[in-house]
Amino acid sequence: MGIVLGIESSCDETAAALVDSDRRILAQRIASQDDAHRPYGGVVPEIAARAHAERLGPLIAATLGDAGMGLGDVDAIAATAGPGLIGGVMVGLVTAKALAMAGDKPLIAINHLEGHALSPRLADAALQFPYLLLLVSGGHCQLLMVEGVGRYRRLATTIDDALGEAFDKTAKILGLGFPGGPAVERLAREGDAGKVPLPRPLLGSAEPHFSFAGLKSAVLRARDAGTYQAADIAASFQQAAIDCIIDRTRRALAAAEGATALVVAGGVAANQSVRAALVDLAAQHGLPFVAPPLPLCTDNAAMIAWAGVERMADPAFAADPLDFAARPRWPLDPDAAPVRGAGVKA
Ligand code: KG4
Ligand code: ZN
Repeated sequence: MGIVLGIESSCDETAAALVDSDRRILAQRIASQDDAHRPYGGVVPEIAARAHAERLGPLIAATLGDAGMGLGDVDAIAATAGPGLIGGVMVGLVTAKALAMAGDKPLIAINHLEGHALSPRLADAALQFPYLLLLVSGGHCQLLMVEGVGRYRRLATTIDDALGEAFDKTAKILGLGFPGGPAVERLAREGDAGKVPLPRPLLGSAEPHFSFAGLKSAVLRARDAGTYQAADIAASFQQAAIDCIIDRTRRALAAAEGATALVVAGGVAANQSVRAALVDLAAQHGLPFVAPPLPLCTDNAAMIAWAGVERMADPAFAADPLDFAARPRWPLDPDAAPVRGAGVKA
């Protein structure tokens, strides 16, 4: 039994949560910065870092207050230590270090991607290692065998854009505003996915990697053609992206020996059409499909606290040192072979 305070600040959500080892989310708060970034059509790192610095302290105090707790009731402090926008990560990590020092609590430096990767186990106690994880967020698009806490084998990654990035850029091209993913999903419901011919990059290729840059360029050309409705472009884009994900994930399943489930996590896992397509794929392979509830898909602190709980449950657990440095890049599988064109992605 233990209670972990989780802190998340790697992108544009300032978040704190208290999670216990019985999978209970005792309290959680998220302050979105959407309004601050909307005028720029994307996240501005400097604005994000400043907003985290202003909001995080009061947000943590309010989260503890929601649970009727003080720092003394917490068993450990877990914070995202990377990868992400370095200014924001530093704000969260420094705050966690200060609390750990003041309260004499262990500090747990969490890889944000590990937070996403383990988040399905917070909601589903039955989910066992190993599982095949499709991790689709604004900065990442990977297929990973999750073999245990701290044990991740990357089977595939994107050679250019992340899937969430492709959604966001499509939203920008179609003038749908920010944040883009949910806006594209909404508009796609009103469109015909068969109207606009769009490419499916890497479909059928032997390795299960992803590519979305060509799809994004095709969306731009479709808009500039001036002959298509925006809703049809959105629907056609979403379908092309889903066709790619399904084909690539099917390929990875062939290499995912022993996987107990097909699992999706990360912001794009909030997309209902993406989820529905993965449900079918899992059924075709006779595997259970697991996806966290929507609030656990997009960035949140409960998944960071939960990753802390999982780390503490390891018999070999050791707290991280108070001089642990924030990491702008931090691959989950440092041994994965580099992929052509993928040098800029963590
Ligand atoms: O995991 P997340 O909150 O932050 C990162 O770690 O990147 O993911 C954010 C990404 C954004 O690109 C956002 O547009 C996308 O997830 N997203 C969606 C949906 N909700 C969020 N994409 C498609 N459909 C959605 N409903
Ligand atoms: Zn994330």
